[in-house]
Amino acid sequence: MKLTPVLSDNWDVDRSWTLDGYGGDYKAARKALTTMDPDSVIAAVKDSGLRGRGGAGFPTGSKWGFIPQGDGKPHYLVVNADESEPGTCKDIPLMLANPHVLVEGVIITCFAIRSHQAFIYVRGEVLHIVRRVQAAVAEAYDKGLLGKDIFGSGFDLDVVVHAGAGAYICGEETALLDSLEGMRGQPRLRPPFPAVAGLYACPTVINNVESIASVPAIIDRGVEWFRGFGSEKSPGFTLYSLSGHVTRPGQYEAPLGVTLRQLLELAGGVREGHELKFWTPGGSSTPLLTAEHLDAPLDYEGMTDAGSMLGTKALQIFDDTTCVVRAVLRWTEFYAHESCGKCTPCREGTYWMVQILERLERGQADAGDVETLLDACDNILGRAFCALGDGATSPITSSVQYFRDEYVAHWESGGCPFDPAASMLFESAGVAR
Ligand SMILES: Cc1cc2nc3c(=O)[nH]c(=O)nc-3n(C[C@H](O)[C@H](O)[C@H](O)COP(=O)(O)O)c2cc1C
Ligand code: SF4
Repeated sequence: MKLTPVLSDNWDVDRSWTLDGYGGDYKAARKALTTMDPDSVIAAVKDSGLRGRGGAGFPTGSKWGFIPQGDGKPHYLVVNADESEPGTCKDIPLMLANPHVLVEGVIITCFAIRSHQAFIYVRGEVLHIVRRVQAAVAEAYDKGLLGKDIFGSGFDLDVVVHAGAGAYICGEETALLDSLEGMRGQPRLRPPFPAVAGLYACPTVINNVESIASVPAIIDRGVEWFRGFGSEKSPGFTLYSLSGHVTRPGQYEAPLGVTLRQLLELAGGVREGHELKFWTPGGSSTPLLTAEHLDAPLDYEGMTDAGSMLGTKALQIFDDTTCVVRAVLRWTEFYAHESCGKCTPCREGTYWMVQILERLERGQADAGDVETLLDACDNILGRAFCALGDGATSPITSSVQYFRDEYVAHWESGGCPFDPAASMLFESAGVAR
């Protein structure tokens, strides 16, 4: 298995974040604006089969096609650069090393959807990224690649880089719109969908950073080339982010459908002396998997078949030293903290799930508590207002599915079998770790 660096191709070039380091002249955008019409750009992205890299995998070209034409309203592109899902760490390195591929993708996308105003909503805590993207946008203006009459095509485009205030829920696309409009970020009721009434009640496309950054290569090298990677339903290449107990963590750009076993070979395997215990395919909101899924294709269909989701391709690797109950507790604390409070199942449910998991981790709960925990998940899944609530249940239900024994070991031994201070006690009591 070979890596396929496209988005990451120039990351080791000197000053890769400048226009020179990017290799310069936005030739894909020039091609789109001067030799194609907007509908043929949409058709090319549809034909390429590019699917959204923000988690849900919705076909990008189809999303663009929903924007009404000739409606007389302004159209907007909003790039979702909020990246806050635990384990997810691809958009930030991409914007750090190669912000111009995003700006070029923004120009092509806006031309396609007939938008003259784009916003890049960056997670505010990562100030260095805000500055880097601002600098790339400023450089593009400077060189006439943004602003009036780009490439002499008559197409005008302005881009605003907006820093969010640091809330996971503001990555949810409609909460992001509220936040961008200056309100508290909370998800909106749909319909109407953003393609009809989005930012300032006007037709709006919201796409992930990596989705937009994938567009220039499709326009430049063609649909057939893009479809040469991956599978029929999941074509192309993508950034897989390996983190945790792995020898060489980092970004691995590879065709969709690669397996974790292949990626781990490239990454030097699980850290020396340890075995893989569990992993997430796409951040903490995707049900965790185990060593038995090492050969499952890491694409949209392969992960669904394995009982999980591709999500953001954030492969968090946990070895045999990790207490699964403790890991799930930490994630659940995150969801409880980040719940926006708009709907009862998520606001109340995540709070109570933390209480139960804390008791379980301390060895003060029992089988009835695990059932209550699963019951709480059942009352959130499909009943919450947005996908944050659903996501909060994934680590719990999947960990009980694969590691019920470990939950049992907690109450049988009256504490965490993975707590080093308690380990001698558990060993002498004969509790398996
Ligand atoms: C709680 C929550 C947080 C999210 N955070 C992000 C995020 O940080 N970045 C992102 O691109 N999508 C995020 N999403 C998904 C977006 O709502 C949306 O599906 C995505 O931006 C669409 O882009 P795509 O079609 O290019 O994937 C989040 C969804 C939820 C429910
Ligand atoms: S599911 Fe959670 S985050 Fe989403 S609207 Fe309800 S309370 Fe807010």
